[in-house]
Amino acid sequence: MSKKLLVTGGAGFIGSNFVIDRVKDGDFVLNLDKLTYAGNLKNLIEIEKSPNYVFAQGGIEDPELVSKLLRKHKIDSVVNFAAESHVDRSISGPGEFIFTNVVGTFRLLDTVLGYFKELDSDLKSAFRFLHVSTDEVYGTLSPNDPAFSETTQYAPNSPYSASKASSDHLVRAYLHTYGLPVLTTNCSNNYGPFQFPEKLIPLIIFNAVNGKALPIYGDGKNVRDWLYVGDHCSAIDTVLKRGRVGETYNVGGESEIANIDVVQTICSILDELHPGGAPHNKLITYVKDRPGHDRRYAINCEKLKSELGWKQSETFESGIRKTVKWYLDHIAWVDDIASGAYRNWIEKNYTGR
Ligand code: NAD
Ligand code: DAU
Repeated sequence: MSKKLLVTGGAGFIGSNFVIDRVKDGDFVLNLDKLTYAGNLKNLIEIEKSPNYVFAQGGIEDPELVSKLLRKHKIDSVVNFAAESHVDRSISGPGEFIFTNVVGTFRLLDTVLGYFKELDSDLKSAFRFLHVSTDEVYGTLSPNDPAFSETTQYAPNSPYSASKASSDHLVRAYLHTYGLPVLTTNCSNNYGPFQFPEKLIPLIIFNAVNGKALPIYGDGKNVRDWLYVGDHCSAIDTVLKRGRVGETYNVGGESEIANIDVVQTICSILDELHPGGAPHNKLITYVKDRPGHDRRYAINCEKLKSELGWKQSETFESGIRKTVKWYLDHIAWVDDIASGAYRNWIEKNYTGR
């Protein structure tokens, strides 16, 4: 049965991929996004005129607005993507992360609880609040440690991951204390269309195409578990529709790769699809490391696979090729983002590194 979703942060990277999939699949989507630097309505052009899609600009921290929207559209599920999401920005300015990710999530939970309490019993039993979180809440792994599972102890190391961990705890508390039917997903690194070029993969493609240095933090041997964004979206939909209330589900690509190997792979694909001049890997430049840089993330997503029957549809090889092609076909999308504000960030993060 189709759902009436409130999706927060649906103009960001993962949110916009999720909104497009859900609208095409026949769910009603109300997209609430504050349109910070990371929100881009151009991501949604494909579905913006669909009768089952509505956009509202505003913050999750605004109870009046959220409560009005929930009632007006008779929402039956909330999917919370809205967040500050970039680790480097959380290091240079943690305040916004605490405000949006902690205070914002708290206010959203509280407003949604007020609405939930007024629903009749049938609507109450179908209602869900799904909180989209990250593997970074579990901290960092040594090379031989087992992958993070749902029972791994939280040990966040950056202001970003600490703020996400706080929000996860609040979500849990709203079930145990007030009975709000919540679900939480903790996912590994995503890549794919519409990712803001401050993150490793789009930044490397963007710089390589423009003949700029490809900055690798530290020794380039930090490991991430990469998941194609479409697979994260299908996992969220699966958990929303079939997950057990109160459970958390880890989502991952089962594809652990060191940063230097990710960058080398992108360079080889670009040598093939966008040749010209020297091989792209000549642009690789090692720069000063990120403070507190987590060494390795790896996700055990067996619970999601065995309990709910989800699986990835892309390998890293197929997904990264698709992604590089997408960016080459959408250079105008990236150029549009490379505005004054973006250039200021690049200067702040990379000058003197
Ligand atoms: P993003 O930065 O691309 O997008 C965030 C979106 O939230 C933007 O559209 C922004 O305008 C909006 N937003 C910010 N503050 C808001 C507020 N107060 N109210 C309403 N909207 C607000 O982020 P992303 O990479 O798409 O990540 C989405 C979610 O998934 C985040 O919660 C993040 O922690 C989580 N996550 C991301 C990844 C990843 O690899 N990108 C992996 C696991 C989990
Ligand atoms: O693990 C999930 C997380 O993945 C999400 O919760 C975050 O929202 C998302 O931003 C991402 O966090 P990371 O810090 O892992 O992603 P980022 O793309 O910033 O960096 C990936 C790796 O690449 C990391 O080890 C740092 C490194 N890096 C990053 C940049 C921007 C570089 O070496 N050079 C760079 O210029």
